[in-house]
Amino acid sequence: MDVSGTIYTIRRSFLRDRINILLLRGSNVKPVALAQDIYRISANIGSRDLFEGIWPIPNGVSLNSYLVKGSRYTALIDLVKDWEGAAGSVSAQLKDTGCDITDIDYLILNHMEPDHTGWLADVKQKHPQLKILCSKRAVPLVEAFYGFSDQVQAVSDGETLDLGGKQLVFYDAPNVHWPETMVTYEPASKILFSCDAFGSFGQVHEAVFDDQLSDLEMKFFEGETLRYYANIVSSFSIFVQRAIKKLSALDISIIAPSHGIIWRKNPASIITMYERLASYMNGPAEQEVTLVWSSMYGNTEALVDAVVSGLDAESVPVNIHRVPQDHVSYVLASAWRSSGIIIGMPTYEYRMFPPMYSVLDVLERSHVMNRKAFRFGSYGWSGGAQKQFDEFSEKMKWECLGSVEFHGAPSREDRETAYGRARELAQRVKQWTL
Ligand code: FEO
Repeated sequence: MDVSGTIYTIRRSFLRDRINILLLRGSNVKPVALAQDIYRISANIGSRDLFEGIWPIPNGVSLNSYLVKGSRYTALIDLVKDWEGAAGSVSAQLKDTGCDITDIDYLILNHMEPDHTGWLADVKQKHPQLKILCSKRAVPLVEAFYGFSDQVQAVSDGETLDLGGKQLVFYDAPNVHWPETMVTYEPASKILFSCDAFGSFGQVHEAVFDDQLSDLEMKFFEGETLRYYANIVSSFSIFVQRAIKKLSALDISIIAPSHGIIWRKNPASIITMYERLASYMNGPAEQEVTLVWSSMYGNTEALVDAVVSGLDAESVPVNIHRVPQDHVSYVLASAWRSSGIIIGMPTYEYRMFPPMYSVLDVLERSHVMNRKAFRFGSYGWSGGAQKQFDEFSEKMKWECLGSVEFHGAPSREDRETAYGRARELAQRVKQWTL
């Protein structure tokens, strides 16, 4: 092997292959029928803002509501935030179906996060008699967020609302993604309105259903579903597993989430994907390694090539991220799917390099547990990063293979050690199966 060079090629993981990095604008879409008298009413949001104030959406995101018209009552499932004209877009689409917001009898709030409720105060003003149904935990949140409680009613787990010819059945799904979350099921059409669960980032245009997408579009949405899961849902993976088990008795033909595409061709495929993603919390994940590195003056960087060569020698795919240059959204998505994690980081002021500390904090919050790992990097002037990293690794139950730490610039021997350690880690990743 050649460990003398420090020139390397940063390979882009597919997660970072952003198909549309254009500054997307919100765009109006048309209502789409899922079944007779059941429509998707959606708004596309552009790329200007960060989702939840944290996560980049270079491909935008869709906010999906669903209109269900019974013979006696009409219900709207989930709302939108008035974000880049979303409220106007929803109003226009309701009109396309022959409805005004004031014609809605019941508003079902599966979840209180403002991307699905932000328009509520305005709607309440327009339509004071609107009946709002939500979980018991959501009731006080309506008042806390929007300052009213009249006409707000809790539904219990398994309760049914009869709209006339159509029924809505409500199931609590706590912590998918906040504690008050529930999902709604319509038995005649077998549609599960799953709220955030099974959602994805990315705008949705004419092709709304999975069976209308090209292979490339499907790959894009699978990638954005993974990033959405890692960023938004991963921390609650235990609750995802519980919710899937609880809902497994339902006969589901269509999964209609509050973000992204609708799963109609094979709804089991997205459920299976979620089961797999949830299982990654405690490993093993995929036989891949995520290498995250930072460098102040190039000395820690000088080992990156040797580490990549070691992984290449074992033919283990590697997702490479430099921080702070790469956003933690992408680092987290890569780390979530990888059984191995390698951290390249110097000591800074007696402790871990601050941008990497911030990344590791996000990995901890998201429960990226039980990984094969090691750290390499400069000792700096004092050392300290390794001690702090060891404490972090222990907490995260990462199995560490030992560090490669050096004073000043790494020697040839350091490069050889880094190469060997990367190979060993790759071998352990390949051997790790349940
Ligand atoms: Fe899409 Fe948790 O809100």
